[in-house]
Amino acid sequence: MSFSFNEQLVATAAYINGEWVTKPGTFAVTNPLNGEHIADVSDCDENDAASAIEAAKQAFPAWAAMPAIERSKLLKAWYALIIEHQEELGKLLTLEQGKPLKEAVGEIGYGASFIEWFAEEARRVYGDTIPAPAANKRIVVIKQPVGVVTSITPWNFPNAMIARKAAAALAAGCTFVVRPATETPLSALALAVLAKKAGIPSGVFNVVPGADAAGLGKVLTQHPDVAKFSFTGSTRVGKLLTKQCADSVKRVSMELGGNAPFIVFDDADLDAAATGLIQSKYRNAGQTCVCTNRILVQESVYDKFLAIYTDKVANLKMGDGMAEGTDIGPMIHENACKNVHGLVEDAIEKGATLVLGGTPAGDDNIYPPTVLGNVTPDMRVFREEIFGPVSPMVKFADEQQAIAMANDTEYGLASYFYSKDISRVWRVSEALDFGMVGINEGLISDTAAPFGGVKQSGTGREGSHYGLSDYTNIKYLCMGGIGQ
Ligand code: SIN
Repeated sequence: MSFSFNEQLVATAAYINGEWVTKPGTFAVTNPLNGEHIADVSDCDENDAASAIEAAKQAFPAWAAMPAIERSKLLKAWYALIIEHQEELGKLLTLEQGKPLKEAVGEIGYGASFIEWFAEEARRVYGDTIPAPAANKRIVVIKQPVGVVTSITPWNFPNAMIARKAAAALAAGCTFVVRPATETPLSALALAVLAKKAGIPSGVFNVVPGADAAGLGKVLTQHPDVAKFSFTGSTRVGKLLTKQCADSVKRVSMELGGNAPFIVFDDADLDAAATGLIQSKYRNAGQTCVCTNRILVQESVYDKFLAIYTDKVANLKMGDGMAEGTDIGPMIHENACKNVHGLVEDAIEKGATLVLGGTPAGDDNIYPPTVLGNVTPDMRVFREEIFGPVSPMVKFADEQQAIAMANDTEYGLASYFYSKDISRVWRVSEALDFGMVGINEGLISDTAAPFGGVKQSGTGREGSHYGLSDYTNIKYLCMGGIGQ
């Protein structure tokens, strides 16, 4: 390993049944900024995924039967260790993922907050009693863990997307197997280091890194001992994995792509809207599912808003995520940069104006924060998930047109709007066809809130008390023969 670090947090073997499993074959992890080699990680195959599922199956009965307060204590111990190492975990995350260190350290805190939250929720998996139609009957509802849960997680949040799923699963009494993204396995394995140290029993939390996405995906979605599969990633891959789960009718949670509108109405506080937009658009260099994709601005304030916003964007500092003051780090690979640039070129060819940026600087995978004016619905930036630091500005005439434009997409994850008119706030909130709406707010992700989408952005909710019920089965007990 070519960097100095707290070696105790760096694991490169798979974590199966509480053991570190070293494989003869490995895949390389590199720094997205400069391609520098960071580590070689054990390359798991389909048999390893099956072993991890078997371990999770064996561990399930005892973990599910453990009193909730004991599971809760173990999750809290895991949380405390993550917080103790927050800075070091943040550095590891920046090295393999590229995001600015302040964001990486923030992500570790965000991920840990799900473990803390679900440690508390573990003790509140309440059932129900329902008045029965006959005097000699009673109707009781209990909730039970679904069983073995498998998951595939993305590179854009290498820690938090695992923590958000695993914490809910473990709190409910399920056991868990994750295949992390090949770009960012070290953050996942560091979570396993700390889970082991926290005393989470063998087989309850397993990590199977591997480059064979299709092979591992097949086992994780089709194995008969898996009860539920949870995925965060693109809509295209999510559809494929959902189909694979269908044969054995597994429960699925799909947190997929977005095409978030950000609407600025003429009665908005324009400066606050520009600040909220920067937060929503440029987090992780635009590489999040909830990042703003289309900025819809009312004609009468369009020029003024564009000037305020462009000034703020021009002040963002690009560079190495490890450097002090960096706002925009590298994109995950060269291809990601090329895709984003293709969208910008398409928009310009079709008549958009280049207001800022638009020219990739060098060979460091950093795409400059870019603002495009006069974007129209026929351009690819309007239709496709950009997943990069580009702000397409679109004009609209009135509220009705803004809502129609915002909903004109097959996606339905996050949406945002700024307005000071309380009646409009209600009307627009109810009319937007999205799972989440930020109202005068650009940062909506929170442990206590239900994260998830509608339409082709997925199914299921993560975080909040809804996030735990996704990992439980409802069982109805009909009790008869009760004498009077
Ligand atoms: C994502 O991009 O998939 C998750 C973003 C978040 O949790 O805020």
